[in-house]
Amino acid sequence: MPVQTIADVDLSQKDVLVRVDFNVPLESGKIADNSRIRAALPTIEYLIRRAAKVILLSHLGRPKAQKNLKYSLRPAAQELSQLLGRPVLFLEDCLGDDVQKTIAEMGPGSVVMLENLRFYAEEEANDREFAKKLAAYGNAYVNDAFGTAHRAHASTAGVPGLLPIKVAGFLMQKELEFLGNRTANPERPFTVILGGAKVSDKIGVIDALLDKCDNMLIGGAMAYTFHLAQRKKVGNSLVEKDRVSDAQAALQKAEKRGVKIFLPADSIATDALDFEARTIGAAKTVSEDIPDGWQGVDIGPKTIEIFGDIIKKSKTIFWNGPMGIFEISACSKGTFAVAKAVAQSSGISIVGGGDSITAINKSGFSDQISFMSTGGGASLEFLEGKEMPGVAALMVKSDKH
Ligand code: 3PG
Repeated sequence: MPVQTIADVDLSQKDVLVRVDFNVPLESGKIADNSRIRAALPTIEYLIRRAAKVILLSHLGRPKAQKNLKYSLRPAAQELSQLLGRPVLFLEDCLGDDVQKTIAEMGPGSVVMLENLRFYAEEEANDREFAKKLAAYGNAYVNDAFGTAHRAHASTAGVPGLLPIKVAGFLMQKELEFLGNRTANPERPFTVILGGAKVSDKIGVIDALLDKCDNMLIGGAMAYTFHLAQRKKVGNSLVEKDRVSDAQAALQKAEKRGVKIFLPADSIATDALDFEARTIGAAKTVSEDIPDGWQGVDIGPKTIEIFGDIIKKSKTIFWNGPMGIFEISACSKGTFAVAKAVAQSSGISIVGGGDSITAINKSGFSDQISFMSTGGGASLEFLEGKEMPGVAALMVKSDKH
């Protein structure tokens, strides 16, 4: 059963609960990246135009069921108001008589944002009574929180079953289209670029994407675990020795399926690293074998060229994870070169994961990317083929309430 979207139902004049993922990074109380808020605008603006009451639900961070104002959604409500160019009423709680009264008195086309749902333990416990209280605010439900769709929480998996109308928002629809259809039936060649520190974080997605792609480019520290699997020298590079067998299995699967895996042909290596100070010691370009006392911190120039060539020839590209420790400028060249190559490719480009999105945004090429996923863990779980409770809940028949 396909998921219905807000374009399939009439939400004019309805009281619509919209689950958004405004779990945005904050630095000194300020929003460091508003991508997730901007991504939800098409749905919110559409509902405003239809004179619906828009009741926004979200979590922010992991406040451990405590009302901790460090995790307040107030800055997100203010940011949204600026982006919309209209008032967004922020309520200091998500439950209570005042909340109920304010929502009841809202005019058509107005927008209200409730305080962080995770201030209540019942949200993450998917508590039915809690879900009922939230559901009572509206008569329709829209889920536009793809980033949280892998969580079976009250606002993602409980509330939709209690309302007669439950549909996906435009962002959710786009995420499902790009991460689903476009990677399941890709225009070929389909190249997957994976990076980041750990094989353990990505092994599920590596396995799933080896069934779909033609090329897999692997960078970041996880590449050195693959190098270990190929009996190459990794020096002092960050590796997961207990994952060498997973890397071996992936290499074998790729060979069997005719997928080409490309590992770094060269690396930038250093003899000292201080992440806190964002500095490294001496740096040099090394071949596939990294000498003792040195650790790989970025892909090297030859690899940048090889990866760039493959990206250029690809018709579909999916990228998740940095190629090096890109937070340190001396180790960021590879990640930014990949960002540029992906943006300049003429194929369909899909980018997921916080670090890759940050790199794309910093590179100034974000408007050349076909789709930037707002999901971190959610994108990976979806690509792995795991069931997404927030999506599944839109497909089941609603309970009588
Ligand atoms: C995310 O940022 O990945 C989502 O908002 C989910 O957050 P969580 O991992 O705390 O559930």
